[in-house]
Order: sequence, then C-alpha cells, then structure tokens
Amino acid sequence: MEKYIIKGGNPLVGEVEIGGAKNAALAILAAATMTDETVYIDNMPDASDTNAMLQAIESIGAYVERTGRHSVKINASQIRSYTIENDYIKKIRAGYYLLGALLGKYKSAGVALPGGCHIGLRPIDQHIKGFTALGAKVSIQGIIYAEAEQLVGNHIYLDVVSVGATINIMMAACMAEGKTIIENAAKEPHVVDIANFLNSMGANIKGAGTDVIRIKGVEKLHGTEYTIIPDQIEAGTFMLAAAATMGDVTVKNVIPKHLESISAKLVEMGCQIHESDDEVRVVAAKRLQNTHVKTLPYPGYPTDMQPQITVALGLASGISIVTESIFESRFKYVDELTRMGANIKVEGSTAIIEGVERYTGATVSAPDLRAGAALVIAALTAEGYSTIEDIKYIQRGYEDFEVKLRELGAQIELVDDDRDIQKFKLKNA
Ligand code: UD1
Repeated sequence: MEKYIIKGGNPLVGEVEIGGAKNAALAILAAATMTDETVYIDNMPDASDTNAMLQAIESIGAYVERTGRHSVKINASQIRSYTIENDYIKKIRAGYYLLGALLGKYKSAGVALPGGCHIGLRPIDQHIKGFTALGAKVSIQGIIYAEAEQLVGNHIYLDVVSVGATINIMMAACMAEGKTIIENAAKEPHVVDIANFLNSMGANIKGAGTDVIRIKGVEKLHGTEYTIIPDQIEAGTFMLAAAATMGDVTVKNVIPKHLESISAKLVEMGCQIHESDDEVRVVAAKRLQNTHVKTLPYPGYPTDMQPQITVALGLASGISIVTESIFESRFKYVDELTRMGANIKVEGSTAIIEGVERYTGATVSAPDLRAGAALVIAALTAEGYSTIEDIKYIQRGYEDFEVKLRELGAQIELVDDDRDIQKFKLKNA
C-alpha cells in the first residue's frame, strides 16, 4: 500500500505548473463518445480517475490512444455497447457522464451506480429529472438505464445547483430534437469548458457560465481538437499549501479569474496575492489570520477547497468558522487533523476552529480526495514526521502531487513499506 512520508517544517517556495482540470476531463472524455469522428484532447491530467474513465470508454469499444502524457486521441465510431458496469466505471463517480453522452448519441445508456468520494449522500435525482424531461425512460436496477425513442428538448428547472446534472443534461440535450433550457444551472468553470468542447464538435449551446443554459439540438457532432482548462482545485490546493507553510509560491498555467474566491480568502488571512495573465503568486510573510468561510456553488468558495482552507485556518490566529453548505459529510478528516494537534469542533455543517501555533506529525489516513490533499498540507507544516495512508484517494485527482511538492522544497516521498520510511527518516534526519 503506497503512502506518503513527510517531514514538515519547510516553507514551500518556487513555481508549480498546474495541469488540466480533472473534473472537466472526466466529462469531456464521456462527451468524446458522442461523435464517430476523431477527437484530439490536450492538457489531459494523468490522474487515476481520468485513466479509469479512459479505460471505461475503451471497454465499450472506443479507440483510445495516448499520444503523449497529456494528450489523447479518441475515436468512438466502433462503440458496441451502451451499457457499462465494469470495475473501471464503478471506481469513479463521474462515470454517470456516460449516461448523458450515450443517451444523447445512441438514445440508450446503462451505467453502474456511481462510486467516488464518500462526502455525503450525493443523490442523482436531478440528472434523472432532466433525462426524463427530455423524454427518456429511466430505471434503476443496480445499473441506471436511460432509454428513449427520441429525445425532445424541454424547459428544465434544477431544484439544486448541480454541476453533474447540468453537464449531463447539457450533453443529452445537445443531440435532442429542438430547444432545451436549463434553469438554475451550475456555473462552474468546467461546465463552461464542456459546453465549449461540445460547441467545438458542432453543438449549439449558449449561456454556459450563467444560470440559464440554452441548447439547440443538432443531429450530429463532429471531430475536434481541444485543450482542457487548468485545474482550479489543483491550483487552489497549492495556493493553500503555500499559505499554510508560510511560503512563496507561484502557480503557473492557471486562469486567475477561476481562483478569485480562493485569492480573496487568502488576502483576508493576511497573504499577499500577485496576479498576472496566467499566474497567481501567493506570499505568506506572517502568521495567518482567522476568517470565516462558507462553501457555495461557483463563483462562491468551492467545497472542493474546504478541507485545505480548514487546515490553514487551524494554524491561524483567532477563531475561524467554516460552513459546508454543499456536502453534509465533508468534515470527516477533522478527526485525523485533531490527532495532529488541531483544535477544531464540528457541529453539523460548521467547523469552529481555534488556531494552534503548530501541528505535530502523526500517522493519518486520507478519507477522500480533497481531505487527503489537505492532510498532506497539514503534514508539510507539522513538527516531525507524518505518514499519510490511503493515498489512492489523492491519486484520483492529483498528478505527481509529491513530485510537485518536492520541487517546491517539501520533504515528501511516496513509499511502499516501513523500510522505505526508515530510509526516508535517515536521509532527512
Ligand atoms: C462535482 C464535482 C465535485 C464537487 C461538486 C461541487 C465532478 C466529477 N465532481 O460533483 O468534485 O465537489 O461538483 O462543486 O465534477 N445534488 C442533488 N441531486 C442531484 C445532484 C446533486 O441533490 O441529482 C446535490 C448534491 O448532493 C450536493 C449538491 O447537489 O449537495 C451539489 O452536487 P453536484 O454539483 O451535483 O456535485 P457533483 O456533480 O457530484
């Protein structure tokens, strides 16, 4: 079982190149099955979730060729099955994007119920409501099936702002007959990226990035070449790591606008932020100050950045309050953080944080992807050695996490067993 061993105490300093957005990539890979022509995708992150999605579409007959570490060529003209229930798909929550994509193109789709991080109930009723409104019959028997003679555009009002439902309905609707309007749509950067990708294939989608998306169905989509946007959450994670370790880090190849809610919080916490066209530099020259944070749909502060800021606020002066309003079970990592010396009380969806001067190293286990990354940040600041277990969660969404951190001066290594841990300790004593 791979683990990270970390010796804390070094401020992160330097530059880090941010990869393509994992959550955009997952939906774009599903959407790539909606044309018989070849699709070339660039800036594809090499993370275990995106690799599982590539294997999933390959397993139903798509031709997949990695033309470089971050580029892939896909031709889905030979898809032979619209039902997918293998291990690849069960690993990832975003497998459900194949429902919208296959339903749109083939009017028939079956996908095993979504896996993914255990951060709350995560229902998919809004996806189903959307498919049904477009004329599909949806049934669930371990696998979710959606089928239609013909999809017909409709006016759909989402009861909750859902990234997944917005994207899934958008994919199905772009090959439906007539017009679809999605109201109360999610506005996250990757919703826009998937709309741009589909439009580059000949879809007619307008308004992505606002809460009303208008789609005119087309009969056919064609091949394209497309570059995925930078990962907002990977960038934000390094920004918070810089702040928590009292470092000075420039995140490169980012869209600063996507990071505004994170930058704004860092300024409140006393960091300096310098933005340029495609870079953001975070300088933390003095102890962080307390602040309050509430997670919200975009452009609010992202739920996927909640554990990272909680870890940083755990070291800030004064009392901070973090309210999680998207997923109900997203504070499970706090128990682990407490074992590193944090003083945090969770009451329902609120964490009350009394900052401590320093965390102390411990063996902790990553309960999910973003919380795992946050525990790594905690360990980077901690006195002594920490071991982070269950890093398979972190690997779902971060490419070369430990390599990038090491390049910023962190003492971190990916190890397999206790002998490697001893070696690391001798080397870094
Ligand atoms: C996506 C992201 C995830 C991120 C989340 C919120 C991917 C693969 N994952 O997840 O990393 O944390 O957006 O930014 O892109 N809901 C319903 N019914 C539904 C769908 C959602 O009630 O049918 C609720 C959820 O329980 C949650 C809220 O809506 O409370 C938002 O969820 P949603 O935006 O759908 O998250 P995901 O698309 O699953």
